[in-house]
Amino acid sequence: MKNLNIALAILLGLSAFSAQASVANAEKLATIYTAVAKSKNANFAPSVADGKTFFTQKVKAANGKETACASCHTANPADSGKNIVTGKKIPPLSPMVNNKRFSDYDKVEGQFTKHCNDILGVDCSAADKANYITYLLTEKTPTTTATKK
Ligand code: HEC
Repeated sequence: MKNLNIALAILLGLSAFSAQASVANAEKLATIYTAVAKSKNANFAPSVADGKTFFTQKVKAANGKETACASCHTANPADSGKNIVTGKKIPPLSPMVNNKRFSDYDKVEGQFTKHCNDILGVDCSAADKANYITYLLTEKTPTTTATKK
């Protein structure tokens, strides 16, 4: 993805990722993915609703199992998830509640590529990633045990 690399070179030149600034980093990543998506579709604008749909939609995998991002990360990205394969706990994905998220660009891209291929069978588009991060940034309230069903 040539455009993305150019956008990133510019971004990284401007400011290095800092581990504590996860929200700012997530916003920056969303801006970059939006710019890349716009270069393909001038009308693109990131959508919280599309990001949520993307996150919760179940896709049938090659093994016939239906999986969504939410299968491991739960329907609320402000909650801790659980890996459906290994049973291991996964800290919340939302940078609003987990300041370790989106601190390492290479890790984020690596996870996106891996999970999108695992779940969807293809890598996610820049538009998917822009929508998804935009959505994550709106999820700041963990489900309390009182409201959990
Ligand atoms: C089989 C379980 C599973 C599924 C399904 C899954 N993930 Fe993950 N995800 C993980 C694990 C495990 C990690 C790594 C542990 C961690 O970072 O807490 C992770 C981490 C991530 C990260 C890294 C965030 C960061 O700060 O580095 C992103 C982004 C992510 N997942 C996106 C997705 C997306 C998008 C989908 C759906 C297409 C998805 N995941 C589906 C288990 C899963």
